[in-house]
Amino acid sequence: MSHLPFGTRVYQSFVRPLAFVMDPEKAHYATMGLFGFGLKLPLIGAALRKSMDPGHGPEDETVVAGLRFPHRVGLAAGFDKDGRWLKELETMGFGFVEVGTVTPKPQAGNPKPRLFRLKEDRGLINRMGFNNGGLDALVERLKVRPEGLIVGGNIGRNKVTPNERAADDYHTCFIALHPHVDYFAVNVSSPNTPGLRELQDRAPLTALLNRLQEFNKAQSEVRPVFLKIAPDLSDAQLDDIIALVSDTGIDGVIATNTTISRSGSRHQRAEWRKSELAD
Ligand SMILES: Cc1cc2nc3c(=O)[nH]c(=O)nc-3n(C[C@H](O)[C@H](O)[C@H](O)COP(=O)(O)O)c2cc1C
Repeated sequence: MSHLPFGTRVYQSFVRPLAFVMDPEKAHYATMGLFGFGLKLPLIGAALRKSMDPGHGPEDETVVAGLRFPHRVGLAAGFDKDGRWLKELETMGFGFVEVGTVTPKPQAGNPKPRLFRLKEDRGLINRMGFNNGGLDALVERLKVRPEGLIVGGNIGRNKVTPNERAADDYHTCFIALHPHVDYFAVNVSSPNTPGLRELQDRAPLTALLNRLQEFNKAQSEVRPVFLKIAPDLSDAQLDDIIALVSDTGIDGVIATNTTISRSGSRHQRAEWRKSELAD
């Protein structure tokens, strides 16, 4: 254990045991708050910074859709939905951070509890439901984002917006975030917003992506656009998605979002059943 970096030792022997006696969602905010506080303390901050430096060099760089990533490890959407911790996450060594999913209006998300640990699977059940502080608050934070960190904007629709008007929500988020993010993730694959995944069907998705691309291509800087897909699609749906990636000229897919499958879990059905949105 003594050969492990300082940050890992602090995490394993102090932070994780403490976090695991807390409710998972509270632990999320508490650990990030604690980390941010630690960074401000001169000695501890310096030790944390040093131990978390991934030590990457030019050989680790990778270029995707014209963006030069310092290395291949980044943070997926959902951890920093509101762009609160970009500085801290950069210090942790992430090569990019995807903020969101953001929706035009702030929304509370699903009733709590909505995040469940599956310890034996070293996993989580997530049924957060796009809790976020809304587009305006995110834009304000991104105006002072750390320089050099690649930031993606993951966009969605409000729960109260019907699918017929979903494209308006995505469009609103796309326009407002365009000057402030390096790429976009169009999220039509969360299982926690009722009906959202129906947007993965070819016709509505093609219309939505074409509308975003129309705005995108009219800007002086065109942002890469990725479609975030569910892991539970049929082969026929995947064929449609491949076709529409090429039809709409987006840059690729982000695979994948949260699964609704529970196969392979080491836990008993009763343990995760209570947390299902619909069973
Ligand atoms: C608590 C939690 C919240 C998440 N929130 C979002 C979200 O807001 N938007 C999104 O696109 N994905 C969200 N995700 C999905 C992750 O970004 C990621 O795609 C998913 O966890 C699969 O990656 P993994 O197999 O590495 O866990 C969330 C996941 C978790 C566990």
